[in-house]
Amino acid sequence: MVVLLDFVSLLVLLNSSCSTALAGDTESPIVNVTLDPRKKILSWNTRGIVTRQTCAIVTPLDPDDVSPNLQVRNNDSYFCTFPNAVLHQGATLTVNATSEGQEFSCQLTFKNPGKEGSGAQNLSCVIYNIRFMNCSWTRGPAAPADVRYQLYTWTSVHGNVSECGLYILDSAGTRVGCHFDELGEGHTTDDYFFLVNGTSSDTDIQFLDCPPVNGPRLEKYNPPANLTVKDNVSHYVIRWDAPAIRYSLSNSVLRYALDIQKTGSFAKREPVFLSRQHKNEYRLPSSDVRGEHTVRMRVQHVHFQIWSEWSSTHRFGVPEKNFLVVSIGLAVGAAVLFGMAVMFLCKRCTESQVTPPPRSVRRTAARRRPRAEGCSGHPEGN
Ligand SMILES: *[C@@H]1O[C@H](CO)[C@@H](O)[C@H](O)[C@H]1NC(C)=O
Ligand SMILES: *[C@@H]1O[C@H](CO)[C@@H](O)[C@H](O)[C@H]1NC(C)=O
Ligand SMILES: *[C@@H]1O[C@H](CO)[C@@H](O)[C@H](O)[C@H]1NC(C)=O
Ligand SMILES: *[C@@H]1O[C@H](CO)[C@@H](O)[C@H](O)[C@H]1NC(C)=O
Ligand SMILES: *[C@@H]1O[C@H](CO)[C@@H](O)[C@H](O)[C@H]1NC(C)=O
Ligand SMILES: *[C@@H]1O[C@H](CO)[C@@H](O)[C@H](O)[C@H]1NC(C)=O
Ligand SMILES: *[C@@H]1O[C@H](CO)[C@@H](O)[C@H](O)[C@H]1NC(C)=O
Ligand SMILES: *[C@@H]1O[C@H](CO)[C@@H](O)[C@H](O)[C@H]1NC(C)=O
Ligand SMILES: *[C@@H]1O[C@H](CO)[C@@H](O)[C@H](O)[C@H]1NC(C)=O
Repeated sequence: MVVLLDFVSLLVLLNSSCSTALAGDTESPIVNVTLDPRKKILSWNTRGIVTRQTCAIVTPLDPDDVSPNLQVRNNDSYFCTFPNAVLHQGATLTVNATSEGQEFSCQLTFKNPGKEGSGAQNLSCVIYNIRFMNCSWTRGPAAPADVRYQLYTWTSVHGNVSECGLYILDSAGTRVGCHFDELGEGHTTDDYFFLVNGTSSDTDIQFLDCPPVNGPRLEKYNPPANLTVKDNVSHYVIRWDAPAIRYSLSNSVLRYALDIQKTGSFAKREPVFLSRQHKNEYRLPSSDVRGEHTVRMRVQHVHFQIWSEWSSTHRFGVPEKNFLVVSIGLAVGAAVLFGMAVMFLCKRCTESQVTPPPRSVRRTAARRRPRAEGCSGHPEGN
């Protein structure tokens, strides 16, 4: 079960150092600066007449100043949002304002509360089977033994936040993954936000946040379905169905890989890649297929990394076993004919010999005989 939390925001009042250096003794017009680290909203109030305000964020992961648009909530209440900012390594936020000709700057330092190294790491999530999602992470190197991580996800800043319903535990009983089994309806514009925080009786646990990821980028497709191979004398025609996918995307964004191999052959064929196909079909000239072959397929989005699993393997072509029997049969036949021909020739040459042959010839003939006998049944050197 997915637990839906109402979106009570976690507001953190920061140690703000609102410098008035440029303004002498005048009180700063910027007050009540707060950051909501989940929603990534910086809010403040102003006093007096304020003109020309700006805000900015700098993080270790994104050291270039990001200056988003500043919005007015009402009269004297302002906010900036930084939806793509990653805050778990800390951040420096700045609000500047001009009041009555004087400039003011308010700089805030945000630190991830909790013990350094206690937070989860390496979070990755995958959407599969239309409605399911799995996430996994590793425990922080400095996490206490009783750490209890919690994963939250949401798709819009003001949308509902879902906590993981089914945690996956490692051998020590620590939560290191999550399975969601009822994602709502998918929209190609969905951006997934994730947050892992945690609790411990020992110490505060740092949170882990990530840049938002567009839904289609997280999806791992099912393998191509209903794979068939038909033989029409000149060609083998391989057909399949595109997998059902969560986000309605056109077929032209799919890339298929066909892995076609000859059974029992050591030489591996490179996979065949097919992108932006309009017809789910691949034709293989029969002349390229000698002996039994196998084919399996997988699929991905042309722009993303995640491949589906391989489909099940299908066999086609004349089985190698029959081919072997035929070739053995041919070889045996050839050997028998060769043996008969040699015996016939030997007979003729001994008959035509009136005088006994010189020693060397006799030795050669003697040596030749067992070899001719050897030809009677088993193919040699074949
Ligand atoms: C600052 O916040 C306090 C408490 O929320 C509020 O009473 C006060 O009016 C705020 N100041 C301004 C200038 O909005
Ligand atoms: C703006 O502030 C003034 C004075 O504090 C107040 O009378 C007015 O109702 C406020 N307007 C809005 C839209 O909040
Ligand atoms: C804010 O003011 C400080 C000090 O004047 C300045 O260094 C900084 O660039 C300003 N930042 C923005 C976003 O305007
Ligand atoms: C896991 O995360 C840590 C810290 O963020 C990083 O140093 C490490 O390279 C990551 N490991 C993998 C396998 O991605
Ligand atoms: C997702 O997690 C479930 C439960 O641990 C597992 O059975 C399933 O194979 C996983 N699927 C993917 C695509 O990772
Ligand atoms: C949030 O959840 C409530 C109750 O489940 C639902 O009525 C509401 O539509 C949801 N809001 C969004 C933005 O998904
Ligand atoms: C973890 O984050 C969620 C979502 O923002 C919040 O409701 C919860 O209180 C946080 N837990 C801790 C221990 O900070
Ligand atoms: C077999 O199929 C291929 C591809 O559809 C076609 O070009 C070819 O003419 C067909 N051969 C026969 C004998 O029907
Ligand atoms: C596979 O074929 C069956 C029967 O024709 C069909 O119902 C099903 O939708 C097909 N699967 C896909 C993924 O197209």
